[in-house]
Amino acid sequence: MASVNYQSMTFDTYISADRIAGRVRELAQQLANDYAGCTPHFICVLNGAVFFFTDLLRALPIDCTISFTQLRSYNGTESTGEIEVVKPIDVDVRDRDVIIVEDIVETGLSMHYLKSVLEAQKPRSVRVISLLYKPSELHYKDAAPDYAGFEISREFVIGYGLDINGIARNLPDIYTLRK
Ligand code: IMP
Ligand code: MG
Repeated sequence: MASVNYQSMTFDTYISADRIAGRVRELAQQLANDYAGCTPHFICVLNGAVFFFTDLLRALPIDCTISFTQLRSYNGTESTGEIEVVKPIDVDVRDRDVIIVEDIVETGLSMHYLKSVLEAQKPRSVRVISLLYKPSELHYKDAAPDYAGFEISREFVIGYGLDINGIARNLPDIYTLRK
């Protein structure tokens, strides 16, 4: 589909499912090299990262463990600037190599918050992998992703996990809001 409509807004195809799949395989290979001999613990940030998380980990040829957390900071197409913890982290990550899997890093507030919660548990390392990254919008400098699938500009995107008020997550491609 070249374009889709939600709530009187038009979104155009931006990153195809094929391009996403190719990049996900590259990222999995990079993680396998960087974490060879380790058994990292991956934390999926629900809901947005769920498609990226399952594709990434099925492409990963090393042992790992997984868990889930859920945060909320967005309302429609704008960040609220506050984090609500819907599902807290419920695993012990002391001495573990932790990799947070996120859909998109914008201001960095979510990753800044989650990293500070995790650091208190004294893991061996904490890194962030994000499918998308908007570097021009980064406010919390410690939240820049260690691995990013695609750097994009200041725009609102949906699909492959990313939503507009809860819908459009199941689109296989990523779409950008038409100006
Ligand atoms: P941050 O905390 O400002 O970095 O924002 C990150 C969160 O905002 C992400 O986990 C997404 O849930 C949401 N978000 C940021 N940009 C977009 C977008 O373009 N489309 C959909 N959700 C977004
Ligand atoms: Mg998110």
